Amino acid sequence: MAVSHYQVEGNDPCDWTEWPQAAEPCGRAADSWTRYEDDALLAHRAGANAFRFSVSWSRVEPRRGEFDDRALARYRRLVDRLVAYGLEPVVTLFHYTHPLWFHEKTPWTSTASVLAFSRFAGRVAEALGDAARFWVILNEPLVFLLAGYLEGRIPPGVTDTRTLNSVFDNLLAAHCAAAGEIRVRIPRAAFSVAHNMMGFAPERESNPLDGILARTAHTMYNRGILEAFGTGRWKFLLPPATTIRGQRDELPAWTDAFGINFYSRLHMRCPGRTRLIGDFDYHDRTGHGLTDNGWEIAPETLGGLIDEAAQIDRPLLITENGLADATDRFRPAFLRMHYDQIVKAEARGIPIHGYFHWSLLDNYEWLEGYEPKFGLYSVDRSTMVRSPRPSVEVFRDLGRAFTRSLPLAQTPLQVHVRQ
Ligand code: FCB
Repeated sequence: MAVSHYQVEGNDPCDWTEWPQAAEPCGRAADSWTRYEDDALLAHRAGANAFRFSVSWSRVEPRRGEFDDRALARYRRLVDRLVAYGLEPVVTLFHYTHPLWFHEKTPWTSTASVLAFSRFAGRVAEALGDAARFWVILNEPLVFLLAGYLEGRIPPGVTDTRTLNSVFDNLLAAHCAAAGEIRVRIPRAAFSVAHNMMGFAPERESNPLDGILARTAHTMYNRGILEAFGTGRWKFLLPPATTIRGQRDELPAWTDAFGINFYSRLHMRCPGRTRLIGDFDYHDRTGHGLTDNGWEIAPETLGGLIDEAAQIDRPLLITENGLADATDRFRPAFLRMHYDQIVKAEARGIPIHGYFHWSLLDNYEWLEGYEPKFGLYSVDRSTMVRSPRPSVEVFRDLGRAFTRSLPLAQTPLQVHVRQ
């Protein structure tokens, strides 16, 4: 089961708090800051045996260099409760938000960011202790790079292609440095990234340009990060024409596992109707339907992406997968169809070491606000009361089968930790 701090906790002053491009302010979110233990119980009742959450850097270090021990202790209480419920804590340190001081004092364009981030990581590791053995340090670094530094749609709202190489390199350096700080404190800690992987298909099957565009998008969007974490070298193109290139030899050694966030597939058309280089859009080509926010339900695409990710020879996890579906009309079938893809991948010899559903609760969906309902549990925003959607039962049933189908039985997150 997966959540992220900003999307559920509420009242967290950070760079997103007054972000003008968001549909609405985050406000109280799902009030999980005061209800995390209840939420852990809901995850447990839904049959989950692992819980992915993130730590808010802005709560932990509200002023540069000043750490809030109470905030750290609060996350420790969550971890203790997760363990008590038999839920493996899976900790993410970067899930899009930053403390208010960050962009001015230690921006990602500067190597000072690496030091600041790793210091934060060290403090969190100290506070959480060795119950926290699995860390997904960065969530979707490529999405952050594209939306934060190329398109300017999310904080820090930069639209400068000259920043892209240094930001990407510093993010990867921060992964390594943070892992180092954590390992010193938690010797058995294992590390992963969560990479948003997307399907790309030609909008018109027989159109060669659409085909080329789909393949180019796949290389750019899915492969660059895989290569970086798998080999320590990367070279890929970002639209319209920036080459992202670099090398960090230590990165593969800090990559014990690889996490796939999977949601949907895009159809590419070239030249585009509105943009010369090409359009991309969701269409319901398989007949599984479009989610409430218009994303194609495309479970078959997941199989190919798992095969692609398996090439870097790391244990794989699905670190996010889910859909916006307020009435739960698609979710039961969605769960079953994606589960099928996992079973098929395992039959091809690719074990999947964990599946995290996005999400436990309805939450704040970034630029789209509260409209999309991703929760297995709905949240009444005036009372904050959580209610199960019918697909909680489906998740529970599949979870039983999933645990059985894994060779690692009760410990789906048992990844290879170096001695
Ligand atoms: C992912 C994000 C997550 C959530 C889902 C719907 O890309 O990691 O926070 O917004 O999309």
